[in-house]
Amino acid sequence: MRSVGVLGAGRIGSAIIRALKSCTPDLEIYASGRSEETLGRALRFGAKVSRDNAYVVRNSDLVIVSVKPYHFLDVYNQVPADFWSGKLVVSVMAGVRLETLSRVLQGAKVFRAMPNINTLVSKSATAIATNNNNSEDRSLVESVFRCFGSVYWVPEEYLDIWTSLVGSGPAFMAEIIDGLVLGAVSSGMTRDIAYKATLDMIEGTVKLLRELGTHPIEIRDEVTTPSGTTIQGLKILESKGIKAGLMEVVETSFRRSREIGIEIDNSIKAKISH
Ligand SMILES: NC(=O)c1ccc[n+]([C@@H]2O[C@H](COP(=O)([O-])OP(=O)(O)OC[C@H]3O[C@@H](n4cnc5c(N)ncnc54)[C@H](OP(=O)(O)O)[C@@H]3O)[C@@H](O)[C@H]2O)c1
Repeated sequence: MRSVGVLGAGRIGSAIIRALKSCTPDLEIYASGRSEETLGRALRFGAKVSRDNAYVVRNSDLVIVSVKPYHFLDVYNQVPADFWSGKLVVSVMAGVRLETLSRVLQGAKVFRAMPNINTLVSKSATAIATNNNNSEDRSLVESVFRCFGSVYWVPEEYLDIWTSLVGSGPAFMAEIIDGLVLGAVSSGMTRDIAYKATLDMIEGTVKLLRELGTHPIEIRDEVTTPSGTTIQGLKILESKGIKAGLMEVVETSFRRSREIGIEIDNSIKAKISH
C-alpha cells in the first residue's frame, strides 16, 4: 500500500497521521479538514492536505473516515459516488454501523475501527470489525492500525463496549491515577514525586500481569500480608464499593455509547432514505 487518506484530520485523525508517519515514513498520507488550523496541523505532521475530500479519496489506497458522524454525509456528498468503488474504507466514527456505511459508500470495502487517544503515543488498542472476509484486505487494514498499537478483530456488537472500556478508558484511568496521587499528597508527599511514582507503579503492575499471565487477584493476594497495610486499603476499596462502581462505570458508559450509536445511525439512515 502506497497511500492512506484521512478524511477529517481532527484530534484522532491527526494523531493517526502522526503515528503513521513515524511508523512508515515513506507512506503518502493525504488529509482533509475545513479550517486553516486543522490543515496546518496535518501538514506539519507530514500529510498532503486539502479541503477537497474527493482529492483525498482519489489519491488514497485506503481511506480513514475520522469526521464526527454528523459530518459523514457532508463528506460523502463532496465525493463523486464512483470514487468509493473498490476502495478500502475504514470508519473510526463511533456509532455508524457497517450496514449503513455499506449502504452509503456503495462498492467500497468497509471496516469500522475504534482506536483510542493513546494513538498519540503509538499505544492505542484498536478494535476492528468488518463483514469482509478477504484476508488481503484485512491484513492491509490491520497493518495500518498495528502501526500505533495493538489490534483486535471483534464482532461489530463489541464496538460499543469497546468505546466505553477502551475509548473512554484513558479518562477513567486518569481519574483513578489522580485519586491515588491526591491520597499520597494528603499523606504528606509532594505531588511531583507521587505522580511519577504512581505512573511507574501502574506501568510495573501492567508488566507484571502481562508477564506472569496470572489473574489480577493473584497479584493482590501476593501483596497482601496478614494484618498489614494492603489489607487496610483493600477494606476501604470494599466498603466504598469501588469494584462494583468500576463495573457500573463501564456498563453505564456502554449503554450511553449504544444509545448514541442508535441515534446517529438512525439519523443517517433517515437522511439517505429521502
Ligand atoms: N477523539 C478520540 O479519542 C476518538 C477515538 C476513536 C474514535 N473517534 C471518532 O473519530 C471521529 C472524530 O473525532 P475527533 O475527536 O477527532 O473530532 P474532531 O477533533 O472534531 O475532528 C473531526 C475533524 O473533521 C473535520 N471535518 C468536519 N467536516 C469536514 C468535512 N466536510 N471535510 C473535511 N473535514 C471535515 C473537522 O475539521 P475542522 O476542525 O477544520 O472543522 C475536524 O478537524 C468521531 O466520529 C469520533 O467518534 C474519536
